[in-house]
Amino acid sequence: MSDHNTQIEAQISRQVLSSFDSTPDARFKQIMQSLVYHLHRFVRDVELTEREWLEGIRFLTDTGHTCDGLVRQEFILLSDTLGVSMLVDAINHRHSVDATQTTVFGPFYIEGMPERAYGENMAFTPGERALVRGRVVDGHGNPMVGAVMDVWQTAENGMYSGQDPEQPIGNLRGRYRTDSKGYFAICTIVPVCYPIPTDGPVGRMLKAANRHPWRPAHLHFMIEKPGYRTLVTHLFNRDDPYLESDAVFGVKQSLQVIYEDRMTHDDVSSLLGITLPFKRASYEFVMEAE
Ligand code: BEZ
Ligand code: FE
Repeated sequence: MSDHNTQIEAQISRQVLSSFDSTPDARFKQIMQSLVYHLHRFVRDVELTEREWLEGIRFLTDTGHTCDGLVRQEFILLSDTLGVSMLVDAINHRHSVDATQTTVFGPFYIEGMPERAYGENMAFTPGERALVRGRVVDGHGNPMVGAVMDVWQTAENGMYSGQDPEQPIGNLRGRYRTDSKGYFAICTIVPVCYPIPTDGPVGRMLKAANRHPWRPAHLHFMIEKPGYRTLVTHLFNRDDPYLESDAVFGVKQSLQVIYEDRMTHDDVSSLLGITLPFKRASYEFVMEAE
């Protein structure tokens, strides 16, 4: 490429960067100038053709059109499958060494799900019966009383209620509260692995890259208590075949649990009258003060 052409290209980037010089908000200015800098470097790096540019515009347009404002959020899915969600998560939890590790929120959370009592069943579709029990504590090991735990998972068909019209509202979702000693118990089914939606542009991107769409089996948690940082995380099934290749890069070793076979009752299952046999997973969540 001639020096002349290099100069023209550099001139374009300089002009765009300096067009943000008088941006009043310093953070917005930093974000926009960095975005332009890296975007221009990327375009130069791959020497984007006009056809590829148009293809990119079409892809992003399609991504927007695939969102339904309810449970389908294709932009979050794109961020997740490009590892951006987990990178943002990592950057924002750098100092949380003692707290439970966090992972992607995902696009399938629904607000306002039923309040459920200690140990109440939230599964109204078939599956392997499971008791998920444990405690929520603060960074000093003190029980967190009355922490609100929003919990959600897919049915055995791999779909969330809200995504699948066949499932009753609130199936495999609920808001539990820790008791006076910080304990919680959830009656549910063992989570299964499932593919993220592939019928949109993100699915086309995965296919073109020869990537699979599977997420390892997990149970979602969002735990809230005033004065503490909201904890968004999952518990993954330790024996899942996709732990090493999660389509959204969300797996952390500290978040893996074993669903053990129980042929006899423990203190909680006998209290709740759970039918034998069942599977049991236990976990202690640690929240950090704000
Ligand atoms: C989920 O676990 O619900 C999820 C996370 C990221 C993308 C798609 C689904
Ligand atoms: Fe999920």
